[in-house]
Amino acid sequence: MSENVLVLDFGSQYTQLIARRVRELGVYSEIKPFNTSIDEIKELSPNAIILSGGPSSVWDEDSPTIDNKVLGLGIPVLGICYGMQLIVQLLGGKVEKSDKREYGPATINTSKTDDLFSEIPAATDVWMSHSDKVLEIPDNFISVAFTDNTPVAAIKCEDLKIYGTQFHPEVAHTLLGKQILSNFIYRISGCKGLWNPESFVESCIRNIRETVGDSKVICALSGGVDSTVTAVLLKEAIGNNLTCVFVDTGLMRLNESEEVVKNYKELELNLIDVDAGKRFLSKLSGVTDPEEKRKIIGEEFINVFDEEAHKFSNAEFLAQGTLYPDVIESVSVKGPSATIKSHHNVGGLPEKMNLKLVEPLRELFKDEVREVGRALKVSGGLLNRHPFPGPGLAIRIIGEITEDSLQILRRADHIFIEELKQGGEYDNIWQAFCVFLPIRTVGVMGDERTYDNVIALRAVTSVDGMTASWARIPPELLEKISVRIINEVKGVNRVVYDISTKPPSTIEWE
Ligand code: XMP
Repeated sequence: MSENVLVLDFGSQYTQLIARRVRELGVYSEIKPFNTSIDEIKELSPNAIILSGGPSSVWDEDSPTIDNKVLGLGIPVLGICYGMQLIVQLLGGKVEKSDKREYGPATINTSKTDDLFSEIPAATDVWMSHSDKVLEIPDNFISVAFTDNTPVAAIKCEDLKIYGTQFHPEVAHTLLGKQILSNFIYRISGCKGLWNPESFVESCIRNIRETVGDSKVICALSGGVDSTVTAVLLKEAIGNNLTCVFVDTGLMRLNESEEVVKNYKELELNLIDVDAGKRFLSKLSGVTDPEEKRKIIGEEFINVFDEEAHKFSNAEFLAQGTLYPDVIESVSVKGPSATIKSHHNVGGLPEKMNLKLVEPLRELFKDEVREVGRALKVSGGLLNRHPFPGPGLAIRIIGEITEDSLQILRRADHIFIEELKQGGEYDNIWQAFCVFLPIRTVGVMGDERTYDNVIALRAVTSVDGMTASWARIPPELLEKISVRIINEVKGVNRVVYDISTKPPSTIEWE
């Protein structure tokens, strides 16, 4: 029997972290909007429900709420922050409105080191982020923790199996937060811990078969981790009813298209490989504005894909490797249709082709996708590749794209990545690449004055690409890279290293 912890989302910036922590603890978890109907909840039959935090106050007009009956289903419930305040209000307690915010570290004191606080010392550090406070707890509940500022920092009603914490157990700053969540999931809710990448693969394959049936599915492959893992999952589920299309935009790195196609053949994917480089380059001729480049590439991609797909199949579904961070808006607060990042490569494709979407990875983070890929026996070389943007080298050549600048960038980038791999740095870095700058600078080579191009090196460390720091590559390795690029790539006489963080800079230069 499968297990599931349902997270109802009230718009907290940490909602996805809750689901992720639960999965790390070995139980599958998925997020649904706060207003998911009670019938749907019953159908999902979760082992436990977690109510996330959120920016609202229970006193706001139209504040997000749940059907009271959810608390009477006999399913254990944990309310976090706003989630706890909502429980208190719905069950007859009192929440005090406050404009004063308590944000940051706090120490909770508890005399009840059992149940939710099993294996937690009487005093432990937690992370707070709230304004309103619980003033009176509902009948049959007891308060089980307090801080200097918050008299009611955690509550429970053992009979109803309903619990609440004012602090956030899901964030790393709450020292023993994982233990608290583990207590809730295992001790209180009786989960057994059946989730791991292998079981995810199994249930995913079952779900895909149920959704897709005997219909045909197409999938756009980019060579990256997300689309590759998506395609392999689909292939396991529906075999030859999956057709993959790889569009070579002419904006790939050195030898990349050949390698990608070889890898896909080895994975025995049913592949159509389209060489569309000329089409893309002619559309991009003379274009310098980054957003314009993205728009042109996005549109052209859809055109090529649409033409190819119509040639061979009557597909009803499009499989996409959308990940959780791509779903940037909080699903619940904005309504059920999640917004995809504006630079998501094939945005607009399903509408144009009138296809339904299959997105098996949309609840996962990149590192979880890599785990799933490993469970599917996808090779490490493919799984550990740095992310590469859909518009490819077009957004790494500042200004106009020409055959010459593409050649120079490809060769410089190849040296950079090769040296990072040889120097054992590649796997410590989230993403590394070269950027071709639209300026020339003076240099001296031998006895000659040169006036040539500049290459910028960009390498960042990051967890999810949303924020990033520049990678501390050893200076000796940076020197070797710079010497090799200037010596081996004709047309380059200067290499610079980008030391900007995101924010305020972005990872890509365009
Ligand atoms: P930025 O530059 O926004 O990049 O800090 C964050 C991550 O997104 C990738 N990126 C893109 N990916 N199409 C994509 O598929 C795009 O237009 C695009 N722009 C940026 C970037 O490489 C980094 O991993």
